[in-house]
Amino acid sequence: MVVQKNLDIGDPRKGIVLEPFIHQVGGHMSMMKYDDHTVCKPLVSQEQWFYESLPTAMKQFTPQYKGIVSVHLKKDSMGNMSLIAFPHTDNHSTLDNTSKEASMTIWQKLNQANTNSGDHTFVKWNQGTITNAIKDSCTGKALLKTDLQYHGDVSSLMVDSNGNQAEVNSYNPWGLHCHKQHLNRMSSKYNENKLHQFILLENVVSKYKYPCILDLKMGTRQHGDDASEEKKSRQIKKCEQSTSASLGVRICGMQVYQAITDQYLCKDKYYGRKLSPDGFRQALYQFLHNGNHLRTDLVEPIVSQLKALLSIIKKQNSYRFYSSSLLIYYEGLEKATPSDCHPQGHCQNTKHPKVDVRMIDFAHTTYKGSRNHHTVYDGPDHGYIFGLENLVKIIKNIPVGE
Ligand SMILES: Nc1ncnc2c1ncn2[C@@H]1O[C@H](COP(=O)(O)OP(=O)(O)O)[C@@H](O)[C@H]1O
Ligand SMILES: [Mg+2]
Repeated sequence: MVVQKNLDIGDPRKGIVLEPFIHQVGGHMSMMKYDDHTVCKPLVSQEQWFYESLPTAMKQFTPQYKGIVSVHLKKDSMGNMSLIAFPHTDNHSTLDNTSKEASMTIWQKLNQANTNSGDHTFVKWNQGTITNAIKDSCTGKALLKTDLQYHGDVSSLMVDSNGNQAEVNSYNPWGLHCHKQHLNRMSSKYNENKLHQFILLENVVSKYKYPCILDLKMGTRQHGDDASEEKKSRQIKKCEQSTSASLGVRICGMQVYQAITDQYLCKDKYYGRKLSPDGFRQALYQFLHNGNHLRTDLVEPIVSQLKALLSIIKKQNSYRFYSSSLLIYYEGLEKATPSDCHPQGHCQNTKHPKVDVRMIDFAHTTYKGSRNHHTVYDGPDHGYIFGLENLVKIIKNIPVGE
């Protein structure tokens, strides 16, 4: 089912019903779709300030910032909940102005997404137990099948230990987990009068038909200056025990379109945290592999974009991008003709493949002049630079001939 959006965004009296964003591969909060080109997530002032004082040089490597919206929680008599965004924070219109066609609740959508297997399989994924349930033959893979004509109707396949496949859900499994948790939290603290602030950002994958997305947490340190002692030591441990310490970068989530089976291969942050440096290298190889051949055409464009970003980051004095991510994403649908392909299956398609890198998630970013009153650092973010340099080396050295 596709929810019609007949809402007039220009009219502040009308609300926009937020939908779960189906291509959320990482993060802990619920990323929502505002419109086809815009996503939104709960506002953290530090992130808003960062975007509002963003150095021009970094703009090409960040999503476009589109402002703030007020979001109402609306519960119907059945207890179903919707999130409705109002473009202007100072409007006092009633929720009844919301278009009827758009009033399908998020609960309904998420429940539809899970109708085939129920919550059980999802929870398994969430707890990491799905990995145990899946035999070595498909080591922890969950496959998300997609029908992109109907974005809300994509389904996924979970392969169990007997090789049986079950439809699981309509979203990236990690995204689905975040949406459910977030809505549960909001629901339990439900207060009809409370306005929640969300930040609007350009949906950087909106022009991609089959977006393959890698979320990399950058740097050797994760905790912000404001972290409690307890959080700080938890995050230090996560960095020490993962490739954050050894490489300055770790995987936080990933989806790769597998053309042959028309499914997404999905990995979550728990998978990423367990990787050794060598496992990290293999995961990058997998990110560039479509199930049939390695996308060698992507290596050079990714490397050159990472190098361009590197030279910009080196010039950002006092910035510390703690806990931020770098998204690398490309179009999974290849237009290569058979003549572009090597007999062994390696395509030499160099017709400007669609691929991009963007920095995201600045809730713990600090810099001289930022409004939080914490430490002021000198020089560029060496942890971030270390991660980027390693990334460049690893991608450059991906064994293209294998
Ligand atoms: N501007 C964007 N466009 C498209 N996808 C995005 C964008 N920002 C974030 N995402 C997706 O949402 C996920 C979580 O985003 P993030 O900002 O890290 O959230 P959190 O604050 O919960 O950590 C990312 O892994 C990515 O898949
Ligand atoms: Mg994040």
